[in-house]
Amino acid sequence: MDCTQTIRARRSIRKYKPGAPVPEEDVKLMLEAAMMAPSARNTRPWEFFVVEDQGLKTKLRYAHPFASMLDTASLAIVVCGRPEAQAGKVAGYWPLDCGAAVENLLLQAAALGYGTCWCGCWPSPRISKLQELLGTQSVPVALIAVGVPDEDPPARGFYEPDRVTWLRG
Ligand SMILES: Cc1cc2nc3c(=O)[nH]c(=O)nc-3n(C[C@H](O)[C@H](O)[C@H](O)COP(=O)(O)O)c2cc1C
Repeated sequence: MDCTQTIRARRSIRKYKPGAPVPEEDVKLMLEAAMMAPSARNTRPWEFFVVEDQGLKTKLRYAHPFASMLDTASLAIVVCGRPEAQAGKVAGYWPLDCGAAVENLLLQAAALGYGTCWCGCWPSPRISKLQELLGTQSVPVALIAVGVPDEDPPARGFYEPDRVTWLRG
């Protein structure tokens, strides 16, 4: 799939083939894509937790009110922000930088044939429980389910002309 096709095909997947393997080399491609995202002044204010431990995955699922798709997902990746990476350099762009990393990750996963679902964390109150479970002070921005899809929702992206103002002089 080229970039255009991947962007159009990606959907949030909430039903996966339980126990389907996701090889480490594929996970690394997803993480590399995430880490190739742009970031303010190239501060790269992110950190990634790859949760293959099924017990911990279940705990994360119950720490988040809208992450029940983790029951069937093969693994979870938690993208966390590191605000301290931007201290004294840029003010508070880290959630945006992490969002760019998340989207890169989702698209790389889709291009490899995997399904994902972005479950929002920052800026909700559920952050502290997730930090406790992961043993980190970094700020969970997204809890991402990853697995082999067991559903095939149709592409639904669309272009909305009334959201665009063309300024052509
Ligand atoms: C910041 C953010 C938070 C989201 N949180 C959740 C969530 O907690 N649970 C969930 O099932 N989907 C979540 N989603 C997925 C959206 O519901 C989904 O992207 C949207 O409905 C569009 O559908 P699509 O991804 O299939 O195109 C989230 C998406 C974003 C960008």
